[in-house]
Amino acid sequence: MIILGIETSCDETAVSIIEVGGDDAVVVRSEQISSQVALHEAYGGVVPELASREHLQNLPLLLDSVLKEGKVSLADVNLIGVTQGPGLKGCLLMGVGFAKALSIATGIPLIGVNHIEGHILSPLLSCPNLQFPFLSLVVSGGHTEILEVRGFGEYALIARTTDDAAGEAFDKSANLLGLVYPGGPRLAELADRTGRTRFQLPKVMRESPGFSFSGLKTAISLLIDRNRALLLDESVRGEICFAVQEAIIDALVFKVEKAIRDTGIKRISVTGGVSANRALRERMSKLKGAELYLPHMRHTTDNATMIAFAAYRGYLRGNRTDLACDVFSRWPVEELAAA
Ligand code: KG4
Ligand code: ZN
Repeated sequence: MIILGIETSCDETAVSIIEVGGDDAVVVRSEQISSQVALHEAYGGVVPELASREHLQNLPLLLDSVLKEGKVSLADVNLIGVTQGPGLKGCLLMGVGFAKALSIATGIPLIGVNHIEGHILSPLLSCPNLQFPFLSLVVSGGHTEILEVRGFGEYALIARTTDDAAGEAFDKSANLLGLVYPGGPRLAELADRTGRTRFQLPKVMRESPGFSFSGLKTAISLLIDRNRALLLDESVRGEICFAVQEAIIDALVFKVEKAIRDTGIKRISVTGGVSANRALRERMSKLKGAELYLPHMRHTTDNATMIAFAAYRGYLRGNRTDLACDVFSRWPVEELAAA
């Protein structure tokens, strides 16, 4: 079965073609992403209106390109999967509108996909032997949650952030330190290069059931204010980056350890943009008695391969969206179980 995946929930336009064999083995025929980092850099963050226009321009070009690279014609495609939410509404509308038009013109069935489900299933692309149930830590720019994955489409929420997401905490701290957008990876790089710190940040709230990163943001801005004179020194900035990275990772690891104790589930996956973080991967790999499953680096940040795969699994469960495919800026993934 050949599936075309389309992802436009934020600032990456992504299109992929995958082929799934009778044994459920996935072969990626072509996957392409057009990043808008350069466009939004000048504004210090994603400008939704500009992102939408960019998606509209990129989608036909990327489709043409993946069909050529994957040596597939539209007539070979059996299913179209498109991100329906959560995300920026204007951006989602571009992907969904494009997918609907393709579906009408060709008669290929269309399935709307939950973006977070795409992230949750992404480790299965590189680790097909990952068994249910497993715990999934989803850490991206807009989401931070731990879910118990009981099966395809069966996601039970264990913990979620009550304010900022982990990626946002990375990005906002980077912004306070004057690192250019998107600051998360840049902050991580500087932290890794420095490898130590003299600064102590308060432990992120541990008692509440969810995550909270807003207190950390205040602590970081106070720390920066107090050490402004020292900030000209790159090694001091690096030490602050190291302290920030450690504080965010500590909070994530603490809650994952608790989820392992509470559920008794030892298979853990970490997904979403922040799962590209080297130090987080290393800390998670040291969790005692746990088995860690990670997506391939290129499937950590937003991509359409995970969307095509989630569409395939949805198709097997009997999901059909076709022209009723609406967009949702907010769509908690645990609500899929009830659908
Ligand atoms: O999953 P993603 O591509 O988009 C969303 O769905 O939000 O995640 C993007 C987030 C951004 O906040 C970015 O700064 C963060 O992932 N990120 C990282 C790293 N690479 C990406 N954060 C820390 N360390 C990294 N290496
Ligand atoms: Zn994402």
